[in-house]
Amino acid sequence: MTTSVEETMVIIVGAGLSGLSTAASLHKLTIPYIILEREDCIASLFNKKAYDRLHLHLAKQYCQLAHMPFPSNYPTYVSRNDFLKYLEDYASHFNIKPKFGNFVNFAKYDEDRKIWKVEAKVVGDQVQCYEARFLVVATGENCDAFIPEVDGLSEFNGEVIHSTEYKSGKAYENKTVLVVGAGNSGMEIALDLANYGAKTSIIVRSPVHILSRWSINFGLMLLKFLPLHLVDSLLVLLSKLMYGDLTKYGIRRPKEGPVLIKIRDGKYPVINVGTVKKIKSHEIQVLPAMKSIKGKGNEVVFENGKCHQFDTILFATGFKRSTHLWLQGGDDLLKEDGYPKQMYPNQWKGENGLFCVGLARRGLNTVAMEAQNIAHHISNLIN
Ligand SMILES: Cc1cc2nc3c(=O)[nH]c(=O)nc-3n(C[C@H](O)[C@H](O)[C@H](O)COP(=O)(O)OP(=O)(O)OC[C@H]3O[C@@H](n4cnc5c(N)ncnc54)[C@H](O)[C@@H]3O)c2cc1C
Ligand SMILES: *[C@@H]1O[C@H](CO)[C@@H](O)[C@H](O)[C@H]1NC(C)=O
Repeated sequence: MTTSVEETMVIIVGAGLSGLSTAASLHKLTIPYIILEREDCIASLFNKKAYDRLHLHLAKQYCQLAHMPFPSNYPTYVSRNDFLKYLEDYASHFNIKPKFGNFVNFAKYDEDRKIWKVEAKVVGDQVQCYEARFLVVATGENCDAFIPEVDGLSEFNGEVIHSTEYKSGKAYENKTVLVVGAGNSGMEIALDLANYGAKTSIIVRSPVHILSRWSINFGLMLLKFLPLHLVDSLLVLLSKLMYGDLTKYGIRRPKEGPVLIKIRDGKYPVINVGTVKKIKSHEIQVLPAMKSIKGKGNEVVFENGKCHQFDTILFATGFKRSTHLWLQGGDDLLKEDGYPKQMYPNQWKGENGLFCVGLARRGLNTVAMEAQNIAHHISNLIN
């Protein structure tokens, strides 16, 4: 059932950090917009899908949204609660009022009328329609939780969760937990579990760079003055000095540098917050890739042929994007996997007034700039 159509100049899909930055930038230029969000809060990823002990991985100057710095009394590494507080203040400062509970499931450009038609599912089976000259995709790199297919997983008798459902290790004392995936979430959750007395294992399948918070921020600063390969060499050297050779614990270093891998493949280096120490002291066990699951007795079979039992399997296996399911005619902007077709810094603009923000795999650092670019670009087209 379709209700009335709401018209505006710009429709932003997603009230995460990218959507909020874009809204603020449009507000500054007094361009009317509507922001649609499927959840009932802003920044749902940090609000609802993040663990308690989370702090922003990067120093605060790299994580602020457009037009409003963090309060000066905030520490260098902002906690989840402080971050949420900042975001609430941000939304009220720029008078951002997202339309919550609007799950966008269709968007198409109308060639004749030169407008974007957007449909969102709202409560019940209602559909709300919106129309605008411009459409901004701000649905995030981390849109939908992803769990890979594992032979026998459906027969596993224990608990299976994704990292977005994990809050703290409190409930896992003495439990055997297998964390699958050694990105930042997996590594930090493994640490949290071990701190709470869970018997923790983590699967580290591919080579990974492990850096300290300090060195990654030092590296970000150096990138302003030095070529990428020099910064990469320096970061690897620092990592070797700090953590030594971790191959005997099951962790290998990639051949290519951390910044190169980040920019080319979008894969973040792991920022160590204490996990390495627990791995070295064998409080966290590193395991190779999983082969299958034998339902009876909760046994997981690994690629080296060994079996172990677990109470819980926690998948920190990342996310997928689902733009291709609702955006029609955006092929010039986004690929099937939801990442932009063009390389940074040309990734944000498509045909017919279509834009994307927050998909450049460069973290929040770039988001504020992208949002301002889009707002200025739209302003020029209107005037
Ligand atoms: C645990 C964790 C820690 C992180 N720490 C850092 C950090 O320290 N520094 C950093 O730079 N980055 C960090 N990141 C990366 C972080 O995800 C991004 O920087 C940031 O969230 C991007 O914001 P966004 O607005 O692009 O996406 P999101 O925050 O994911 O927001 C997208 C929004 O769009 C909504 N949405 C999606 N699809 C639809 C739809 N069809 N209809 C309506 N609404 C929709 C979602 O509900 C969501 O609210 C972290 C990520 C995770 C998971
Ligand atoms: C965990 O194990 C220790 C040692 O056996 C025991 O003292 C403690 O009560 C256990 N905790 C829980 C929650 O089972």
